[in-house]
Amino acid sequence: MSRIAFAAARPSGTQALAVDYSDGSQATYSLMWLLDSCPEGFHPQTGERAFDLLSVPDAPLLHAAHILADGRLELQWEHEGPASHFTAEWLSAHRHGVPRPDAAMVAHRYWKAADLSDGAPRHEASAILHDDAALMAWLVDTKRFGLTIVHGIEGKGEASMAIARRIGFLRETNFGQTFEVVNKADPNNLAYTSLALALHTDLANQETPPGYQFLHCITNDAQGGGSVFADGFAMAQVLRDSDPQAFDVLAGTLIPCRFFDRDCDIRIHKPVITLDHAGAIQEIRFNAHLVDLIDLPLETVDAWYRAYRAFMRLTRDPAFRLGFRMAPGEMAAFDNRRILHGREAFNPATGSRQLHGCYVDRVEYDSRMRMLKRH
Ligand code: OGA
Ligand code: ZN
Repeated sequence: MSRIAFAAARPSGTQALAVDYSDGSQATYSLMWLLDSCPEGFHPQTGERAFDLLSVPDAPLLHAAHILADGRLELQWEHEGPASHFTAEWLSAHRHGVPRPDAAMVAHRYWKAADLSDGAPRHEASAILHDDAALMAWLVDTKRFGLTIVHGIEGKGEASMAIARRIGFLRETNFGQTFEVVNKADPNNLAYTSLALALHTDLANQETPPGYQFLHCITNDAQGGGSVFADGFAMAQVLRDSDPQAFDVLAGTLIPCRFFDRDCDIRIHKPVITLDHAGAIQEIRFNAHLVDLIDLPLETVDAWYRAYRAFMRLTRDPAFRLGFRMAPGEMAAFDNRRILHGREAFNPATGSRQLHGCYVDRVEYDSRMRMLKRH
């Protein structure tokens, strides 16, 4: 790759700098941005910004712009303070409005059950544990589809925690750092019974529900207990296309979710569908078991129920539901803020069913992808 060099730099208006590059391209930079972004303003060891933005005037003025003998651009300022220096590679790579390249950016592939007719993508536990390329391939797939199956896990709960810890530290919740999904005598959660669980996302009552969830099957020989997963983003997109009014109501209405037991009472008001600032679907928060008494006013409550029931009906549509039976040694890995999961009822008199679960948040997951790319 040919190295880019400065061809010329000159003021553009009072608040900007126009730069010509040797490849014929041009870019214009805000003077305030140049002061704030100059690499010399960052701590040489920590990489954190040391520059104080209020140390420069509201409307900084350029005194002179030179290209130095070593090819760097030097900017001298009218205000008192050090000159700023930039290499052409750096400045060309940091044009306005261009986000940093991000190895954690993976385009989501929305799916219906028929798109995964061979099942969710499968990855092998020992490869994930011992090979960074295999770890990265698993992380990419789990992000792309929202759901993968890890197979060949030897051992019990510790073994799947070791796989999750290949990504990052575990997200602790009121259920602990990890949790055993078994039929308990004194359950504080429907998951700890033998009842069916309708499609849901976990911990909808949390301010930020856990990002990625890992459900490792230890035993599954009771009658019933099949697993089901569905792509919440795909269902929300279908709702957006077919019933935009319902979609907007679910994205725009805060509803209460609550979990309480002997030790806690954790509540939050949030929408069922969260959009990012560009309007893309960012998160599904859907757990009928945890929706608290709806506290909307009479004027809006029925419109909300209509919208919620429309989404709920999609979760019952077999076209979206990927059902399969988890086998011992397998683990479902999924984005808990995208993929809905559930199970059929099982009969604890006919055998045992035990899953072991834990979570890793989205930001730790993304950080791991970036670190794998960096090395
Ligand atoms: C849960 C859960 C699914 C299952 O523990 O949150 O949804 O298959 N479990 O038991
Ligand atoms: Zn769950």
